[in-house]
Amino acid sequence: MAKRIAILGSTGSIGTSTIDVVRSLKKEFKVVGLGAGRRWKELAEQAKLVRPATVVIADPANADKIRPLLNNSTELLVGPEGLVELAGRKDSSFIVAAIVGAAGLESTVAAVRAGKQVGLANKEALVVAGSMIVPLSRKTGAQLLPIDSEHSAIFQSMQAGRTSEVCKIYLTASGGPFRTWTAKQMAKATLEDALRHPTWSMGPKITIDSATMMNKALEIIEAKGLFDVDVDSIEVVVHPESIIHSMVEFCDGSVIAQLGTPDMRTPIQYALTHPQRCVGCASRLDFSTVRRLNFEEPDFDRFPALRLGYEVARTGGSAGAVFNAANETAIKAFQAGSITFGRIVGLIEEVLGRHKVDPKPDLDALLEADRWARQEVAKCLKS
Ligand SMILES: NC(=O)c1ccc[n+]([C@@H]2O[C@H](COP(=O)([O-])OP(=O)(O)OC[C@H]3O[C@@H](n4cnc5c(N)ncnc54)[C@H](OP(=O)(O)O)[C@@H]3O)[C@@H](O)[C@H]2O)c1
Repeated sequence: MAKRIAILGSTGSIGTSTIDVVRSLKKEFKVVGLGAGRRWKELAEQAKLVRPATVVIADPANADKIRPLLNNSTELLVGPEGLVELAGRKDSSFIVAAIVGAAGLESTVAAVRAGKQVGLANKEALVVAGSMIVPLSRKTGAQLLPIDSEHSAIFQSMQAGRTSEVCKIYLTASGGPFRTWTAKQMAKATLEDALRHPTWSMGPKITIDSATMMNKALEIIEAKGLFDVDVDSIEVVVHPESIIHSMVEFCDGSVIAQLGTPDMRTPIQYALTHPQRCVGCASRLDFSTVRRLNFEEPDFDRFPALRLGYEVARTGGSAGAVFNAANETAIKAFQAGSITFGRIVGLIEEVLGRHKVDPKPDLDALLEADRWARQEVAKCLKS
């Protein structure tokens, strides 16, 4: 029987790669739902290709534009509540959570609440609400399958031993476009500079996160939530080639790594087909072209986001929601030209410093912390 899946964030970088994977695996998957934000033309094209029963457009302003392009038998749901409904519906057993940012939180929670398998690309959901999502998944039987390449690598490497035998997680980082830049150069980096990632082709938000290394900071928090490990056992290693996607060290000193080309179709496929593996469409590693694998220590002075990531992971509670929302708002300000690249992380730290952490927040409290942080960034920008 084909696995019935819904892809939330289908028009994005992960969403389109997921469609590639599903089409290459042909009979094993049936896409029953697609959901996206605003890109109605792309969404309609995808609907033509995979013929889902349901399509969701989150932006109501584009509902009337997409409706005439859909097949009569395709149901159209509109707004963020449509995404939540699609995520929780019984007609799918697997949800690919690939919306960017906290906008993907409520649909991810709905999928977990419904006890589904969740291919998790939307790391922000775990950063904001890992303390709630992970226990909820245990209760409902939902399975969180990482799509983030590092977490997929850790997940795969962990299968070489028992969780209690893991002593360290090496989270690899490409170092982003500014790995070799001085702090002075980085302070004035343009949007174009920040979007020029050396190894991965991704959506704009995560690409800017890679430039500040906020991406790695978010991933530290994600790893803590997904693998229930002590924050001090997570070590960031800069590996500019992006061939080793992360590593796990076991108590006997053995280090198990997962390697591959920087192609997100590999971790996406692994999440979809786990625990099986099959031939897919991702590019293959050719060792005749890999001359060297390099490793460097991360520079916490030039990339203070890393230090903040560890601090927030240790603090827990509502700190992740504030950290994430401040980052999303600061990135938007940078994209709009209102702040320099060098100001992004400083703004986040300022807002974090003003936040009174709620140690055991529920979903409403997390959403409130998210709203508060966005307002605080806006206030800082005005002043
Ligand atoms: N790209 C990668 O290689 C990669 C790797 C690891 C992890 N991730 C994670 O995967 C997630 C997606 O990243 P991406 O690079 O694929 O981003 P992306 O290319 O920018 O795509 C984002 C997707 O989210 C949708 N979206 C944005 N805002 C929305 C909203 N308010 N409501 C509903 N949908 C909304 C977009 O729809 P429209 O475009 O139609 O508005 C689009 O489908 C992120 O959490 C990222 O950190 C990505």
